[in-house]
Amino acid sequence: MKLKITAALLFAILGANAQKVDVNKAFKSAALQTDILVKNVDSARLIKPSLVSPRTVENGQLKMVVSRDWTSGFFPAELWYFYEYSKDQKWLNLAKKYTEDIKKEQYNRSTHDLGFMIYCPFGNGYRITRDTAYRSVIIQAAKSLSTRFNTTAGVIRSWDHNADKWKYPVIIDNMMNLELLFEATKFTGDSSFYKIAVTHANNTLKNHFRPDFSSWHVVDYDVETGQVIKKTTAQGYSNESAWARGQAWGLYGYTLCFRYTKNKAYLAHADAIANFILNNKSTPADGIPYWDYNDPQIPKVSRDASAAAITASALYELAKYSKNAKLYKAAADKILHSLSTAYASPAGADYGFILEHSTGHRPAKSEIDVPINYADYYYLEALLRYKGKFNF
Ligand code: GLY
Repeated sequence: MKLKITAALLFAILGANAQKVDVNKAFKSAALQTDILVKNVDSARLIKPSLVSPRTVENGQLKMVVSRDWTSGFFPAELWYFYEYSKDQKWLNLAKKYTEDIKKEQYNRSTHDLGFMIYCPFGNGYRITRDTAYRSVIIQAAKSLSTRFNTTAGVIRSWDHNADKWKYPVIIDNMMNLELLFEATKFTGDSSFYKIAVTHANNTLKNHFRPDFSSWHVVDYDVETGQVIKKTTAQGYSNESAWARGQAWGLYGYTLCFRYTKNKAYLAHADAIANFILNNKSTPADGIPYWDYNDPQIPKVSRDASAAAITASALYELAKYSKNAKLYKAAADKILHSLSTAYASPAGADYGFILEHSTGHRPAKSEIDVPINYADYYYLEALLRYKGKFNF
């Protein structure tokens, strides 16, 4: 799909031309912040060792989470990115140490989030070190995730909670976990992981998207018939709205599906999602969206820096495959410029998180306008991709 050139998009691009990203400076500040975060994490773990990973700041306090939390892998994965960027042994040692804490989740069959929890730290760890122990963890996690696939509906179940609300919920975020399955097929030659990933991606493409290529957050399936029961939201403004992070997960998800399959339908779909995101008129000039594109209270609501960071990282990869490369790079540069300047935590603040102004779960009144670990992780990834230091 060729991107429609609208006034909003032109503005994004023209603005970006004047805004180069100072990656060295951004990494330096992020590393100083993360030094602080590591100290805070170690102090917190002395008090409660089961809380292994920093997630956010809640009521002014550092919020740590257990390894089965869906965000547990982002902190160790960030440490891998610092090592990749700097080649400083200090980061390698830290990355190895904190990655170990998430290892037991390879056997967790109660969540679809194993891609985030396992693939982010162990996938990066393996990519960088070629340590076969990491590869084994990824393969076991792919086996665990595969147990959540239903052949009649042709999708992986996302959540087991809220059984009163949904029978077999699948959320758009689930597209991110397919990377783990594609990699497991590469490692083992076992195509069953690949087939599950492709079937899930095809059914999500069919059932999760509206005519404008925005997506529903939650699609509920009847596994007796394979039919869709309903299309709703959990974290968005309303069932029919476009939750900002959901759009970013979809963009990243179909981009990675194209990386592994070279199926042009996925590329066209990623282009179409990018078109929705980049032409959305509710996004302010700095390129950082509000938490939901359709919240009627815009501009008096919180932004979501995490959605912007995920989008920027995905756009750098999509630029490698799409005819719209120049536009995507310019739009991603603009986002990165904003994140690295106006959205960066002041030095020494926020317990050492890197970015401010993310929104986790606004309908639940949780994590509104705060630092969040996955915003930091995808921001670092986007910086590496900007620099061409990261090979996909
Ligand atoms: N995967 C959950 C979220 O994006 O908040």
